[in-house]
Amino acid sequence: MIIANWKCNGTKKMIFSWFEDYGKEVNFVDVLPIVGVAPPSIYFGYFSRENASLKFIEWGLQDADHLDGPRTGAISVDMLIDMECDFLIIGHSERREIFKEDNDLIKEKLKSLNNRVTAILCIGENKEENNKGITRDVLKEQLDIVNGLELDQSFTVAYEPVWAIGSGLTPEPKDINEIHKFIKDVVQSNSANNLVPKVLYGGSVTDKNAESFFKEEFVDGALVGGASLDGSTFAKIVNIFSGIDKK
Ligand code: PGA
Repeated sequence: MIIANWKCNGTKKMIFSWFEDYGKEVNFVDVLPIVGVAPPSIYFGYFSRENASLKFIEWGLQDADHLDGPRTGAISVDMLIDMECDFLIIGHSERREIFKEDNDLIKEKLKSLNNRVTAILCIGENKEENNKGITRDVLKEQLDIVNGLELDQSFTVAYEPVWAIGSGLTPEPKDINEIHKFIKDVVQSNSANNLVPKVLYGGSVTDKNAESFFKEEFVDGALVGGASLDGSTFAKIVNIFSGIDKK
């Protein structure tokens, strides 16, 4: 599963050249991975399912509100379901930091999505926590929101170390693999239905380093920010993922 997170970037012009570049570069292999794009919500209308070059792409949003009604500026989970969105990213570190979202709010979002649309829950430690060696404690606390919940089969976690996002720095692939195994174990032990989630890696993924991550056993794909803004670079990352045989 490869997901593009465009964050607050894009213009109409960029979107149309992205479609073209992606369509030219991507390999249409027999078993296509799940590929998704989360554009800024205002551009969602451009992502028509009718567009031939894009028929294998799923669409999602970078965040949504769990409630409808008097909440000026919000877009709700009910609306994204009405618009047939495939997935929603929740708990991104930029939402946690800039918009002060806490675990209680993220849990409400997860509950409102469960069994209706794929949730991609972002978790990750910051540099200080990483230096202190408390990464697993931080992740476990962020994962508390699944405790006792019956999770949908599509539930996905994105491990995104905050210090790796947009920095060009990444953990070693083998360390990412160990953390992904840890995340799978925690979710399996704590969810009501013992679900083993898919776990994506996010943080400075490019077409140059993607292969080293995708080869690892517990890496089920990537959440890609900066490198997803160029259609042909994103397609290269998708092609690398499609070409890996982990059997
Ligand atoms: P990046 O962002 O690929 O630009 O590091 C990833 C993310 O924040 O989802």
